[in-house]
Amino acid sequence: MAGNKKKHYRIAWLPGDGIGKDVMEAARIVLDKVQLDAEYIPGDIGWEFWCKEGDPLPQRTIDLLNNVDAALFGAITSKPTKEAEEELIPELKGKGLIYRSPIVRMRQLFDLYICLRPCKAFVGNPLNYKNDIDLVVFRENTEDLYSGVEFYPVPQEIKFILQKLSKNFKSFENLEADEFAISCKINTKKGSERIIRAAFEFARQNGRRKVTIVHKANVVRATDGLFLETAKAVAKEYPEIQFDEANVDAITMWLLKNPNNYDVLVAPNLYGDIVSDLCAQMVGGLGFGCSGNIGERLAVFEPTHGSAPKYAGLYKVNPIATILAAKMMLEWLGELEKAKLIENAVAEVIKEGKVRTYDMGGNNTTIEMAKAIAEKIN
Ligand code: NAI
Ligand code: MG
Repeated sequence: MAGNKKKHYRIAWLPGDGIGKDVMEAARIVLDKVQLDAEYIPGDIGWEFWCKEGDPLPQRTIDLLNNVDAALFGAITSKPTKEAEEELIPELKGKGLIYRSPIVRMRQLFDLYICLRPCKAFVGNPLNYKNDIDLVVFRENTEDLYSGVEFYPVPQEIKFILQKLSKNFKSFENLEADEFAISCKINTKKGSERIIRAAFEFARQNGRRKVTIVHKANVVRATDGLFLETAKAVAKEYPEIQFDEANVDAITMWLLKNPNNYDVLVAPNLYGDIVSDLCAQMVGGLGFGCSGNIGERLAVFEPTHGSAPKYAGLYKVNPIATILAAKMMLEWLGELEKAKLIENAVAEVIKEGKVRTYDMGGNNTTIEMAKAIAEKIN
């Protein structure tokens, strides 16, 4: 799950929209300070390119991603289908262009099947829910309820087949096509196994004691049953790591009650999305949540927040999430010393509590925060 350490790196630099630009400028100050031998190659992504070109992830950006070691990504703006159509330049209107999230496309095109979200409470962060939280969430990133196989209205053929094959469909069979909708939760053995294995490998390599499988197999028997069954099989290969499982609803309560009972969590896509937001909020929220979308060849690192249009260009928001995403990128590249330098610097600045952005109750700017962190790196 890591790239190969090299002398010189090519990094795709994808600021995107809104505060994506602010926080990436800040992250660059810190990356420059650790003197990674890299070229940062700017790439176009986001709303601007949807409006001008009808594609928020132009082919030239895909070509770029095919030729880099890793990517750092800020955030993008997205809007509902109708509004998206209205904001296209006149030449592109009425051409049947449909907006698709460039993030989802990147994940699919490059098979970035791991969404890795470390959630660690830094000592002195006034936003910590508790002070000793150190959780790592592995979220499956390509399938499950996000498979995109959806029907609304529901075609007659599907209704016919479900009537034939499922007893439980009886309660829906008298509904008209537009009176119900179906979103398919598709989970594969391969998809389940590779994310679960990634979580156990991470635990092994990082001296973590326990992996908890998040599911709802007692109700969602087919897909979550497969996920849980696969997990039990994979866990046998890691006897030194404690295997644990929990229902997704119950774990949200238990996580709040006693986060220290958990260590590494692994979940199918949707549960992982929800649980990782909960964990991120416990360690400071959007200004601290970072994530990696990781595949076999490429990995794209990002803060989990969006483009926060109301703060765009104001240099007000917290860049720590993006700086920590850059740290994760260095770890993935095998640059562990430089990654540690960044993490320690972030920890020191938070602990001192002299420089704080608005979300932390301070009034320092995005750039002041980045410079304070960079100054701690020697
Ligand atoms: P958002 O994450 O952009 O912002 C919500 C609020 O959280 C902000 O108004 C701000 O108060 C706070 N916030 C966000 N980042 C912060 C930071 N670094 N420091 C301090 N406070 C921060 O979510 P919202 O407003 O729902 O979405 C805005 C746009 O971003 C939408 O177009 C949405 O589709 C898009 N989006 C993009 C994502 C991505 O690029 N990965 C993820 C989530 C939303
Ligand atoms: Mg989310």
